[in-house]
Amino acid sequence: MSSSQPFLNSSPISLTAGHRRKSQFTYKHLSLLGQSSTSCPLRVIAHIDLDAFYAQCEGVRLNIAQDQPLAVQQWSGLIAINYPARKFGVKRFTTIGEAKKLCPDIILQHVATWKEGEERWAYHQDAFAHMATHKVSLDPYRLESRRILACIKDTLRGPPIQKVEKASIDEVFLDLSAQIHAVLLERYPELSGPAPYDDPTESLPRPPTTALDWNADALVDLDNSETEDDDPDWDDIAMLIGSEIVRTVRAAIRERLKYTCSAGVARNKMIAKLGSAHKKPNQQTVIRNRAVQQFLGDYKFTKIRNLGGKLGEEVVTKFATEEVKDLLLVPIEQLKSKVGDDTGSWLFHIIRGEDHSEVNSRTQIKSMLSAKSFRPSINTSEQAVRWLRIFAADIFSRLVEEGVVENRRRPKTINLHHRQGGQMRSKQAPIPSGRPIDEALLSDLAQNLLGQIVVDGRVWPCSNLQLSVGGFEDGPTKNRGIGGFLVRGDEAKAMITSKSENHGSFHATDTGLPMKRRKLEDGALRKFLTKSEMSRDEGEEDNDIDNLDTIEEHATLPYEHSEENRKSGSRTCEDVSSSLLGSNERMHEGIDIMDKVEQSQGPILTRQPSTETYTCIRCKRSISVHQKEEHEDWHFAKNLQSHENSTTSTIPVRDNENSAQQSNHVSQSKMPKKFTASRSGTPNALGKKVEKGQKRLAFG
Ligand code: CTP
Ligand code: CA
Ligand code: CA
Repeated sequence: MSSSQPFLNSSPISLTAGHRRKSQFTYKHLSLLGQSSTSCPLRVIAHIDLDAFYAQCEGVRLNIAQDQPLAVQQWSGLIAINYPARKFGVKRFTTIGEAKKLCPDIILQHVATWKEGEERWAYHQDAFAHMATHKVSLDPYRLESRRILACIKDTLRGPPIQKVEKASIDEVFLDLSAQIHAVLLERYPELSGPAPYDDPTESLPRPPTTALDWNADALVDLDNSETEDDDPDWDDIAMLIGSEIVRTVRAAIRERLKYTCSAGVARNKMIAKLGSAHKKPNQQTVIRNRAVQQFLGDYKFTKIRNLGGKLGEEVVTKFATEEVKDLLLVPIEQLKSKVGDDTGSWLFHIIRGEDHSEVNSRTQIKSMLSAKSFRPSINTSEQAVRWLRIFAADIFSRLVEEGVVENRRRPKTINLHHRQGGQMRSKQAPIPSGRPIDEALLSDLAQNLLGQIVVDGRVWPCSNLQLSVGGFEDGPTKNRGIGGFLVRGDEAKAMITSKSENHGSFHATDTGLPMKRRKLEDGALRKFLTKSEMSRDEGEEDNDIDNLDTIEEHATLPYEHSEENRKSGSRTCEDVSSSLLGSNERMHEGIDIMDKVEQSQGPILTRQPSTETYTCIRCKRSISVHQKEEHEDWHFAKNLQSHENSTTSTIPVRDNENSAQQSNHVSQSKMPKKFTASRSGTPNALGKKVEKGQKRLAFG
């Protein structure tokens, strides 16, 4: 036995000889188990979920006794409550005051925050009183999440190859099939022989056992048609071995990192996930195949993955029940006729516990977001830029973990969402592919996008800003050297051509003469104005949907009980496409506004009746106080433009506004997203020069 297979030694099975009937499983099934086939009837999946995760993180970090009630605070709310505090009735939406009343000894620990202008997050004692100038950072929990994942992988290390899918910041799915296959062959040599007559459809011999020792597992009762007197078959034994593995993994997490977690062990992801929540904290639940119907029958189907949201509601309305057992009585044809063929068929199978979805070891992050709701709203570009730098630092630190520095993966687009009053606007730009992504580049691109929003007007007061990157792609070569980032001859030429094509007299006319200046502004504006503009529902309060590391755009929202998330989940395709259609109009409108702004810089201030003026410290002109905001925005946009002229860091947005790309944006943006937050970084100043080699190559 190899030391890398830690589970082969244990022998919890009582070897009393059982009946000699044949197994219901075949040699083919056994071989499918070894291949982790999703259609294998012996398949074993586990779901592990950390107990009161953020609360445990704080408890472990602060070395607080395990029985001490503790909750994690975010501003004036509680976002995680440990199990000792839950005993006092403290819940996620309990107010701070109520929590203290219910449990006077409770420790309330505020989440870490980025303080406006600072370069990394920290635990600030007074953060709760400074919502206006702090932004939540969930980085400490993300770091712990990674340590836990590493511990799980280390415990399971192969061969055979492990299949571990990180499902959220505190959850993983494990496909244990291949490991279990190896253990089965080790423990039951009779299984390794060739199939009789070399026919893989031949049944396996029956397991030499009549009773299984499930240790302390919570064992879900068998279906009514089954009895515990029936001898176990290989699926029960596979489940038992899976359960041993999970117990070992949980013990390792506990011993090495001090965290407790709960787990579900079952034949697929859907049942395993329900299983992990079945008994908490610090327990594992096994749902044998023969217990699936019994187990699911007691559930409301709205608890099942993908039935928690709108689809679940629709089914409840159409069938006037929330219970799985009622829906089990509905024939498949009726399901199909009421909710459509595909959904009806999926529903029919899922409530019978059939789910063949794969455990994806490489769960790919699809987008990353850093966001802040401002209460009170912010009123100047300078304030906004300070936050954009934090967002850029935050996103960049997460990109580093995704392998962006080695060019393993990189995002293609950057988005800025801006909310003013009831209006949400969004600007998007491609991330130039010819150079490495760094914090300065992200910050510059973000500021450029802000510039585009600013020239559109109606910017302040702003109540929410969200910066996101998306469209992740695998790098063309992994671990590519720095040379790989340099723009080669043709590409560089294309970049120069596209720049001059897009902006015509852009370079030649910067003489300060009024006519030429107008051309310059138009060119710069075209550059400012983005390729797509879409509205979106307001979703997050501060950063708290930033809970999960991976963004599964196809998945149901992670926290369906959250009103905010439900709102963003209801975002429709129509919402997005209608505003996309509107984007061309707004583009022109944007130019008009800028023209007006430009005109308004002149000495004759036709649009302002007021005579009250101030002298702008930047251009020394006398400006109507009513136009102060607009005038400062104009400087901001101007700065961006000259910054663009002087560096290659913000390679101009190409005129790629074709419908295919737009519909791409629609399909991406309508998806529910889950987001994450932050770590340290060095914000760069507006106008900071970019990487020199790149500049020389592209434009020198
Ligand atoms: N979380 C959050 N906001 C929500 C839901 C969850 O911030 N609306 C955070 C919680 O703070 C939590 C972590 O995400 O610690 C994982 O969530 P979940 O597993 O749902 O809850 P736990 O707190 O881990 O509690 P349980 O023991 O029930 O899993
Ligand atoms: Ca949890
Ligand atoms: Ca969870």
